[in-house]
Amino acid sequence: MKFFADTANLEHLTELTELGLIDGCTTNPLIMAKEQHYDFEAHLKEVLRLIKGPVSIEVTTNDYDEMIRQSKEFSSWGKNAVVKIPMIKDGLRAVATLTKLGIKTNVTCCMTTKQAVLAAKAGATYMSLFWGRISDLGVNAKQVVDETAEIYARHNIKTEIIVGSIRGQTDVNEAIKRGAHIITIPPNIFMDMIYHPRTESTIKEFLDKWDAFVKSNPMNKPKQEDN
Ligand code: E4P
Repeated sequence: MKFFADTANLEHLTELTELGLIDGCTTNPLIMAKEQHYDFEAHLKEVLRLIKGPVSIEVTTNDYDEMIRQSKEFSSWGKNAVVKIPMIKDGLRAVATLTKLGIKTNVTCCMTTKQAVLAAKAGATYMSLFWGRISDLGVNAKQVVDETAEIYARHNIKTEIIVGSIRGQTDVNEAIKRGAHIITIPPNIFMDMIYHPRTESTIKEFLDKWDAFVKSNPMNKPKQEDN
């Protein structure tokens, strides 16, 4: 299973990279709008340099010609650039064209298994199912992801399933057990995944006991490094 970071924030991406937790990253116009006072192209080129895996950059239009123009531009910014295309009719047409041009795509805002199958059919490299937004509709997101994964597997479909729109630990706990290839997670939720109060208290207990032991057995004090 791969984890992507659902952010364009350079500080968060650097921290998650140093922690060795991420295999790629996903952005969208809403995520980009959260970063203040920056140059879009320069910022994303920086992200593409920092992240070794795929970086999804979303087009900011629903117009076919403009989607193709932006996709060519974004994909020229780095070998790991993936263009995010909306799940609309002209989006699928754009994916079919971009696939022929060898440009990697991520079909975004998918809410149903049918849409997921269409995205794959058009040639998408990745297809994103929006867990939180599917659940908002009163639909069982687990079922949508499970069915999609099963159909992709049954027909040997190579498109990778990304589960996005993750809003908390309950979503992670459930999404992680499904058949998706990738989960894209916001940085604050990644940090919460690390923490558990019982883990903290156990580590503290071990270190407290060790410190007490060293106090009564000073020969075991850690050696100082020579400068
Ligand atoms: C995924 O690629 C999207 O960037 C993201 O997960 C969107 O989800 P949200 O807007 O519901 O948080």
